[in-house]
Amino acid sequence: MSLLIRGAHQVVSPLGDRARRGTELAALEIRPNAVVRCEEGMIVFVGNEAEHRQRFGDADETLEADGGCVLPGFVDPHTHPVWAGSREDEFDRRLRGETYMDIARASGGINATVRATRSASSEELLAGTFARLDSFLVHGTTTIEAKSGYGLDLETEVRMLEVIHRADEAHPVDLHPTCLAAHEVPLEHRDDPEVWVRRLIEEIHPEIVRRGLAEAVDVFCEEGVFDLDQTRRLLADARDHGWRIHLHADELTPLGGTVLAVELGALSADHLMCVTAEGIAALAGSDTVAILLPGTSFFLRSPWAPARELVEAGCAVALATDCNPGSSPTESMPAILALACLGMGLGLAEALTAATLNAAAAIGRAHELGSIEEGKRADLVILGAPTYHHLVYHYGVNPVRHVVKAGKIAVRDGQRT
Ligand code: NIG
Ligand code: FE
Repeated sequence: MSLLIRGAHQVVSPLGDRARRGTELAALEIRPNAVVRCEEGMIVFVGNEAEHRQRFGDADETLEADGGCVLPGFVDPHTHPVWAGSREDEFDRRLRGETYMDIARASGGINATVRATRSASSEELLAGTFARLDSFLVHGTTTIEAKSGYGLDLETEVRMLEVIHRADEAHPVDLHPTCLAAHEVPLEHRDDPEVWVRRLIEEIHPEIVRRGLAEAVDVFCEEGVFDLDQTRRLLADARDHGWRIHLHADELTPLGGTVLAVELGALSADHLMCVTAEGIAALAGSDTVAILLPGTSFFLRSPWAPARELVEAGCAVALATDCNPGSSPTESMPAILALACLGMGLGLAEALTAATLNAAAAIGRAHELGSIEEGKRADLVILGAPTYHHLVYHYGVNPVRHVVKAGKIAVRDGQRT
């Protein structure tokens, strides 16, 4: 099966198979009027149309970009896409002055979603996840990292991860599962959180490893959730199981999770709204990717992560939605790019690299995803606008017209095919 994308005003992409840093973050390749040929799910040619004609025959199918801009499919390296219920009541309370943590301590927050998720059937969870994946896809996202974490018991954590696997098989968006059973202390263990930490280490993580349900582990390292010592024990143990590590680090308070993530060789340290100078220096000297989630700052009305300082220090910066029902209920990477530029101060080219190649690096996939180059997977976005600037410039609407996933048209004229 071959597909030719032609008629683009420009094909725009970062290049390479590793995260870009510093001034390289803004180094996009812009090819005016280029065509892209896909075969068997891979990109086999990017270049001018005359050269394509010389080297290849007709493709099985042609997609007319119609003067639009072709970009790599977005990779969203931090999402919580499986849940039941919703928390618009808490949103309203926050608008009237309560904080996210006030609500969490009063057994709302993550634990409110845990109640709804535990009582939902796996079919209901799958249906909700599918609807969200459709929304990811029409907004241009072709791969996500997907966390569990609304079960907080063995049975429901397993069911969430099984739903992620089933969704990965049945939906065009690719999902990379992360076990986040250490997302919160469940209400039944509030009197003695240490018992919950021990259960995670002795019972829940080993069983999820035994079933082969996750690629990576994550912990919410935060005041009032898991402290630094508990996080260290949870992650060191998970690493011994061979899991890769992501970490919710220095999100609402500067606990030092970023330094710990680097010390343990984590793939990513995420959030970083309260990252310290020491955390920034540690990231800059490591391969750990700094995943920034400006949707969460926006939605919680919290400070922005220090994106410019991170870039200027030489850290590998990526962007993600944090899609979840409490702190960032969105599937839209274009919205995240707008917040990254207008709120956190990234340049547009920097934000595009952060949402594609660097986001792929944040899930250990920069060798196969995140840029438009021969040999990479044919995951592409075609904007209904001539240049990549329109991604953010025309804000508050969906600029994505078509999406190609693994060489197949998955969204045409804004609709799932
Ligand atoms: O990334 N920080 C912890 N987890 C999510 C919020 C989850 C929720 O509120 O349901 C986050 O912000
Ligand atoms: Fe998160």
